[in-house]
Amino acid sequence: MATWSAPGKVFLFGEHAVVYGKPGVAMAIKPRVFVTVRKSKNPTHAKSPYIDECFKAMGVRGSVYVHSQLQSSSGLGSSAAVTVATLCAINDEYNLGHSRDAIADIAFNIEKKVQRGRASPTDTYVSATGGLVLITGSSKRRLPPQNLQLVVGNTLVSHSTSKMVEMVGAQRKRHPDIINPILDAIGAVTMTALHNISNPKELGRCMDINHALLEALGVGHPASSRLILAARTTGAYGAKITGAGGGGSIIALCPRRAKSRVAGAIESCEGRAIITSIDTEGARREKND
Ligand code: PMV
Repeated sequence: MATWSAPGKVFLFGEHAVVYGKPGVAMAIKPRVFVTVRKSKNPTHAKSPYIDECFKAMGVRGSVYVHSQLQSSSGLGSSAAVTVATLCAINDEYNLGHSRDAIADIAFNIEKKVQRGRASPTDTYVSATGGLVLITGSSKRRLPPQNLQLVVGNTLVSHSTSKMVEMVGAQRKRHPDIINPILDAIGAVTMTALHNISNPKELGRCMDINHALLEALGVGHPASSRLILAARTTGAYGAKITGAGGGGSIIALCPRRAKSRVAGAIESCEGRAIITSIDTEGARREKND
């Protein structure tokens, strides 16, 4: 029996613009998905196309138990974390010898297949390696970890990443002269944020600007706006949508002392709050006891 876990992720900056080759920054966060895999003659597991594809890709069969601290369809990378942790546990249980990078690649291909071509390598890479990651086109670079204090607010409005990506694509086709400069500006905000990564006030300001640009792209939602306003008025340095938008989750960068106040404000606006910070480990083996 082998148990592995893998973290969720948030986009700190640059979602949607990364689809068009602009830079984006994502970070692994503490909540995780735990997966136990056991060799068995009569394999059983919860119905999940991701888990089915993991066994197919690794060429074995077995039983699986999943325990998740991440809500699915909330924009926190739960499907990538399930896929990465399942592949790592299979790799371990059957001694297959795949490297972490190879597992991140296999996981990306599985996400792409299950999501019919619409997946970015960001979620699976960040979940496998942990930490802070700069994404530019197909390149991914781990950045030095930062002690960013975040509150994640889940709107509980489930969203579809592929629909939001499609919608932005359609807007861009219809109004290239408007949408392209917005995508360029998001790229510029990401670069400015990277230069100010250890200055939380500036970083918060960058988040606010990034959020306004995402609203301009049309991926806002009244529920995210409510949570963002609640976070800003209770002391966050800045707040924005994280991920595809149209519901899903928001993030607020907070002074340490304001975190629980911000979380309370999010909860009182009918959001689900998670107080969190960076996860630097990525996928890891858990003890079986
Ligand atoms: O909703 P999420 O967390 O899967 O993030 C999607 C991010 C996008 O930039 C909108 C799409 C992508 O593939 O990068």
